[in-house]
Amino acid sequence: MDLRPDLPDPPEPGSFGDSPLSRALAQPLMLGLFLPIQSGGWSPSLEPRSTTWTFDYNAELTLRAEALGFDLVFGLAEWVRHGGYGGVSRFREESLDPFITATALAALTKRIILISTIHILYGPWHPLHLAKFGATLDHIAGGRWGVNVVTGYAPREPVMFGMQKVEHDLRYRMADEFTTILKKLWRSSENVSLSGAYWQLEDAFARPQPRFGRPILVSATGSPAGFDYAGRHSDIAFITSPAGAKLENALPALPDHIAAIKAAGRKHGRDLRTLINPMIVCRDTDAEAWDYYDRIVRNADQGAVDGYARHHALADSKAWKNHRPQDRILGGNIHIIGGPDYVTEQLANLKSAGCDGLQISFYDFQPDLDFFGKRVLPLMRQAGLRN
Ligand SMILES: Cc1cc2nc3c(=O)[nH]c(=O)nc-3n(C[C@H](O)[C@H](O)[C@H](O)COP(=O)(O)O)c2cc1C
Repeated sequence: MDLRPDLPDPPEPGSFGDSPLSRALAQPLMLGLFLPIQSGGWSPSLEPRSTTWTFDYNAELTLRAEALGFDLVFGLAEWVRHGGYGGVSRFREESLDPFITATALAALTKRIILISTIHILYGPWHPLHLAKFGATLDHIAGGRWGVNVVTGYAPREPVMFGMQKVEHDLRYRMADEFTTILKKLWRSSENVSLSGAYWQLEDAFARPQPRFGRPILVSATGSPAGFDYAGRHSDIAFITSPAGAKLENALPALPDHIAAIKAAGRKHGRDLRTLINPMIVCRDTDAEAWDYYDRIVRNADQGAVDGYARHHALADSKAWKNHRPQDRILGGNIHIIGGPDYVTEQLANLKSAGCDGLQISFYDFQPDLDFFGKRVLPLMRQAGLRN
């Protein structure tokens, strides 16, 4: 395999003092919003709420997050069958594509970073596609776009594309080749010809060159093979709790988990940052927040909870192996439930545990984001968590 070792990686966007990524990394704790571009968001519950998957709703959330000073918004990607994951809500049957959504959001926003999750092994994509499409979006967004590289953990997804499921660690080896080629295409000022184990290129060339070396690279993982991939390529690793959704279990488990990811970055001379996804239920008091949480759980869409648990049982992801089905009613990776002081304290604890940033989800996004902006953000500033 000749992957042109003579051609170094493009400079990283974080190495430019004026890049959107550098601005985000300068915050004590990066702040992102996990957009609900899929029906039901993260929570298979029938408790009434405003949250919808529609573009207009998500565009309003993005503009609100930008006005509040959030650093990034993020959309997940999944390929879900008719009926979604089940239940009366047909959980996640509808979802916007995060790549196309980010393109539209790029034109509406000015400052916030937009991350799209992409299954690079489905189709298959060719690295030349993403080099061209990504550089185009990078220019539309003024260097504010990034890709969250995922390889597909769910066996039902690749067969939709007429493909067989690829073994877990092999997926990361394929992703490594894909991303290596992608970076060469973004870097090279000449045609690129190479013959990899999975992709070939002859006199391939992609212009424009991205604004800050290359788009932002993110990957979402919880396994050693995924850490190795992130260590080589990603600016940010999107992590979850290795000890399930309960904060009291997650906080003691995170430092070792994060140390392993950071070590994977250092092996390649890189400073890999981490982003974690707390699901925040915040009300004026702890008691009100717990009361709201209880209503969300009492009104679970049980068919969807069971269907989503079955979906995860079939998958080979290491990232959520300790999340229990009942934790999936509220959803997200870590639950933070309480009043503004409690929530701020726990966000500080996540920072102390080694997290560099938060990718927040809510149950009822519009009012909950407004409440967070009014009541929690000022406390985060006071606590030195935000500039
Ligand atoms: C926080 C987080 C977010 C993820 N988001 C997605 C996603 O949007 N779509 C997807 O197909 N996989 C997603 N994944 C799954 C991973 O990309 C990966 O395929 C899965 O976790 C299996 O790899 P692992 O064993 O390295 O964790 C996510 C994983 C984590 C930890």
